[in-house]
Amino acid sequence: MSYETLLVEKRDRIALVTINRPDKLNALNARTKSELKDVLQMVRDDSDVDVVILTGSGPKAFVAGTDIKELTSLDEKSGREFSSSGQAVFDLIENLGKPVIAAVNGYALGGGAELAMACHIRLASDNAKFGQPEVALGIIPGYGGTQRLGRLVGKGKAMEIILTGDQVDAQEALRIGLVNAVVPLVDLLKAAEAMAQKIISKGQIAVRTALNAVNAPDESPLSSGQALEAELFGRCCSSDDFKEGTTAFLEKRKAVFKNR
Ligand code: COA
Repeated sequence: MSYETLLVEKRDRIALVTINRPDKLNALNARTKSELKDVLQMVRDDSDVDVVILTGSGPKAFVAGTDIKELTSLDEKSGREFSSSGQAVFDLIENLGKPVIAAVNGYALGGGAELAMACHIRLASDNAKFGQPEVALGIIPGYGGTQRLGRLVGKGKAMEIILTGDQVDAQEALRIGLVNAVVPLVDLLKAAEAMAQKIISKGQIAVRTALNAVNAPDESPLSSGQALEAELFGRCCSSDDFKEGTTAFLEKRKAVFKNR
């Protein structure tokens, strides 16, 4: 099957899924999310695939966030739905039943950081940069970030990253436990494939059982935390600040927030 915004390649029991909108730094639009859902369901049910690697096209970005153009029309109700439906796609990754490795090849901002965090293992290139810049747009992370970031790096660091919107470079991401390893960009896919092959060489019943076991403690608090996240994301979408933040980005100017 061919996709408009994804490249999918299968070899040696690995499915390599590449988000392919390099001119928009692989920002996630509705099409990408729907195609991602399709591919995830397909690889989940494909007995020839044991491990999935997720990456972005080009040398600059893994995913620079959700597509800000598609945010601008959201109101409280549609914002809540937007958040819940994105969360559902990312939950599919976390609960795929097969390991998913994120090969983070540059910017992983907003939805991009959240996408990487929904994966089971994160390898970063040396030019990778992580961040949750949503507060600059008048919203909060809406694809699981408010729940998953603290689980990975601890609540204090998660608060700092989400409240300041500051970017975290690859070495800092390694230091705080946001990524498993950092490698030169040219070696990233090779490193991800080597890790995938190591996993594939083990018993897959054990690998898949371990995946479920390690995920288990997060399960119910994550779903209730995400329901709250979607509710609050929707509320942000009804604010003037959200309209101003997204419009200012698209008009390439600094946002002037009125705090209402
Ligand atoms: N949504 C929509 N378009 C995006 C995007 C996003 N999240 N991120 C980047 N783009 C687009 C830019 O608008 C630009 O498009 P254009 O060439 O048609 O003007 C193109 O991708 C290249 O981005 P540009 O900003 O020119 O690259 P840069 O190297 O100067 O800056 C970033 C890179 C990642 C720092 C910057 O693009 C950015 O801040 N992106 C938004 C990040 C964000 O807030 N994500 C969270 C969204 S919830």
